[in-house]
Formats: sequence, C-alpha cells, structure tokens
Amino acid sequence: MSGERDIAYVVEPGRIATATADGPPAVRFPYDASALVAEPLRTERLVLRPLEASDAADVYEYQRLPEVIRYLPWPERDRAEGYEHTAKRAAGRALAADGDSVFFAAVLPGTPATDDPTRDRVIGDFMIRVSSVRHAQLELGWVLHPEFQGRGFAREAAQAVLDFTFETLNPHRVQAFLDARNGASAALCERLGMRREATILEEEYNDGEWQDTAIYGVLRREWAAARG
Ligand SMILES: CC(C)(COP(=O)(O)OP(=O)(O)OC[C@H]1O[C@@H](n2cnc3c(N)ncnc32)[C@H](O)[C@@H]1OP(=O)(O)O)[C@@H](O)C(=O)NCCC(=O)NCCS
Repeated sequence: MSGERDIAYVVEPGRIATATADGPPAVRFPYDASALVAEPLRTERLVLRPLEASDAADVYEYQRLPEVIRYLPWPERDRAEGYEHTAKRAAGRALAADGDSVFFAAVLPGTPATDDPTRDRVIGDFMIRVSSVRHAQLELGWVLHPEFQGRGFAREAAQAVLDFTFETLNPHRVQAFLDARNGASAALCERLGMRREATILEEEYNDGEWQDTAIYGVLRREWAAARG
C-alpha cells in the first residue's frame, strides 16, 4: 500500500521494544474462582470471596438505588429480577473464554447482612471479565453501596482484585469502561494507577440518551512498577 496514506503516529521511544520484551499473551486460563471460597482475598477491612446467590438481599439493597444505577447500563429491577440477576452472576465461576466473568462479593466483617444477622454483610461487588484471551486483556468493574462509599472501601477492594488479577491470571493489560460522566469511578481508576486512554463519543444509548464511554487501562509492567 502507498505510504502516502499512512498517518504520522509516533510511539514513545523504546515502548515497542519494552512491550516485546514482556513476551506474548499468556493468561493463566482456565481459572476456577471456586478456589476463592476456601481462600478468599483479605484486605485490611474486607473479605472478598465469590458472589453467591444467597447474597441477593444485600446486593438488592444497592442494586435498587437510582444513584447506584445512574451510570450503569442496568435497568431498574424489582426484587425478583434483582435476585435472579445476582443468581446469574454468582453462577459464573470459570474464566476461560472471552466474555466469561467472575464476581467478588465485598464482605464487611462485623456488619450484619440485611436479611440474616448471623451473616456478614455484602457491601459491594467487584467483577473480572475476560475481554480477550488471545490478547490477554481483562476488564474490571465495581459497585459499592452508597452507605459505604467515600471511605476507601472501593479502592481497598479494587486494589486487591487488581493485584489478584495480575498476579494470578497474568493479563498483559487490565481495563475499565465507564460512563464518561462517572467521576467517582474515574477517580477510582486513577487511584488504582489506571490511565484514561480514550473517550468514545455516543457509544451507547441508555435511558433515552446517548452516552459517552471512557476507557481506562493499565499495563502489566506499569502495575508491577507501581506495586514495587
Ligand atoms: C465507583 C464507586 C465504587 C467509587 O466508590 P468510592 O467510595 O468513591 O471510592 P473509594 O473507595 O476510592 O473512596 C474514595 C473516597 O473515600 C475517601 N476516604 C475516606 N477514608 C478513606 C480511606 N481510609 N482510604 C481511602 N480513601 C478514603 C477518599 O478521600 C475519597 O473521597 P472523595 O471521593 O471525596 O475524594 C462508587 O461511586 C459506586 O459504587 N458507584 C455506583 C456504581 C458505579 O457507578 N460503578 C462504576 C461503574 S463503571
């Protein structure tokens, strides 16, 4: 093809060589998240274990709130629909192919569940989804009950999930997709060391309006450098 049509695109010096040195894609799949039932991730204040259908009451406490779904492509769900949604998400335990996902329930020890005071409450959930096995790209997502927002819980959980993702699953890059207006989620991405890489204009039509999408990403070597 004629070079006349090429666009002047300059990659920062050295990046291609560094990326090449990182080696080809090598995600460690299949991964069965059931292993995390016996050995959940633990942070200073939270326990992160696979979401269960029996968490539906706690999840519904935030899933039903307009301020929570404002920037999520979720419909308003009644209780039965909400419980079904949680059961469906809890059924996903295997990561092997594009589109597969697992969900961590963020459990706050010492705070009783909304439907059963003998259990600890689920205050949010954190997703890992496979964007591309071939290119070793994974996606994170998060939702936290507003009562527990603004206290660093989302950051604590998301950092643990990000560390787990890189350490255990070995992606080349981790990304997040957000409604471009979602400032709280963008701030969380930045606290995690993710970079805003793109804003896609009018990518989705939700709730009667066109919505811009922001894409955040972090490369494996950037995460490793930041985590020392
Ligand atoms: C996105 C979301 C998870 C972020 O939650 P969050 O609680 O704001 O995030 P963090 O855990 O990083 O908390 C940060 C805030 O806690 C404060 N904070 C208080 N104590 C803290 C502590 N011990 N450690 C860290 N931060 C602390 C920080 O100063 C910061 O406050 P600021 O927002 O006023 O700057 C939350 O807004 C949410 O669930 N939204 C609805 C669902 C949604 O939109 N999900 C994203 C879809 S892409």
